Amino acid sequence: MNIVVGVTGGIAAYKTVQIVRLFVKAGHEVHVIPTADALRFVGLPTWEAISRNPVTTSVHDDVAKVRHVALGQNADLVIVAPATANTIAKMTAGLADDLLGTTLLATSAPVMIAPAMHTEMWLHASTQANIRTLSERGVHIVGPASGELTGGDSGPGRLVEPEDIVAAALRLLAPGDLAGLNVAISAGGTREPIDPVRFLGNRSSGRQGVALALEAADRGAEVLLVSAHIGADVLGEASTHPRVRVEPVSTAIELGAAMTDASRTADIVVMAAAVADYRPATASPTKLTKEGGPLRQIALVENDDVVAGLAAARANGAAPDGQVIVAFAAETSTSPQERRERARRKRASKGVDLLAVNLADAEHGFEVADNAVEIIGEGGEVVGEAAGPKRVVAAAIVDAIAALRG
Ligand code: CTP
Repeated sequence: MNIVVGVTGGIAAYKTVQIVRLFVKAGHEVHVIPTADALRFVGLPTWEAISRNPVTTSVHDDVAKVRHVALGQNADLVIVAPATANTIAKMTAGLADDLLGTTLLATSAPVMIAPAMHTEMWLHASTQANIRTLSERGVHIVGPASGELTGGDSGPGRLVEPEDIVAAALRLLAPGDLAGLNVAISAGGTREPIDPVRFLGNRSSGRQGVALALEAADRGAEVLLVSAHIGADVLGEASTHPRVRVEPVSTAIELGAAMTDASRTADIVVMAAAVADYRPATASPTKLTKEGGPLRQIALVENDDVVAGLAAARANGAAPDGQVIVAFAAETSTSPQERRERARRKRASKGVDLLAVNLADAEHGFEVADNAVEIIGEGGEVVGEAAGPKRVVAAAIVDAIAALRG
């Protein structure tokens, strides 16, 4: 593959030497395009030696070969690491005042950037707005990671480790069996407010949904992960994966709105979130106190069944052809027959294609790393099963989805 590595003027540029080395070692043809500023950190001979290709920064070199557009046109992937706040702003504006700028405008290949800068610059409203714009345009953003920064301070702004950037880039290049498909996954547990400090919630950590998101993305899908209160530790790689976009939500109503919106263009919909079936009829705008009168009862109203609504919308034509919808059911019955029976009824009543039923006990299901599921298909038959780490279970569920799509 032809990989263009843009290097911009940040101290982390020295780590990009390792990124280029790893791409070359993996057998890729690498062209490095440093900005003039980047060369103040790592010199031209280093880039030429390590990439084994000539390196220039100016649009006026090698004019006969129309180098200012040829590199971008021929690229299978363009990656900018480190991407400084300045370069991110230039990319957002579409500036082309150097070879990296023209290359980025001339390419139709996937573009990935690995931002690195001081925390204040990363968190600045302009940088955040630029990142959102780039992400909406399909630019894959890897990181930044949190940790120690040059200058002794610490926070988000570190370049993601070279090995992880290379792994993310190679995943982007590898076509998988879900390549080109849009997948919408809900995960985590909703919170229904009682007052500003209390809510009705559940024990879902979001691990199974995150594992599904990563599995689908690694197999080529573009994934939207609608995340209801998933901790950063659980989200892990999903927050930096080039093909996973995370949309945080809180309540069942917010989750329903996000999934309804996403499912209009999703080829695959997976409802792994634990959605509250009921919410308090009213949420007090101020904290309820004992002085104000003891709270002994909470009136509840029923939430809409999101997944049943998505299946109904599909039946009305509001979804892409061949859309597959998957629901989950957590069952505490220790009888496999009973669990299966309930799962069959649930699948049919919700109108979904597949229902993954899992046993929720101390070792399986909620808040733990392992899970065990049976996947019930349209005829009520068991079309797949898996037990073990949630990523293994995720692979079995994605296999069942892929089989259904043919
Ligand atoms: N679900 C949903 N909207 C809700 C509640 C649940 O879309 N308001 C989805 C979940 O994401 C999951 C499946 O429906 O995919 C779970 O079905 P549900 O009937 O809620 O299962 P349980 O909560 O296990 O139901 P019950 O309490 O009746 O056993």
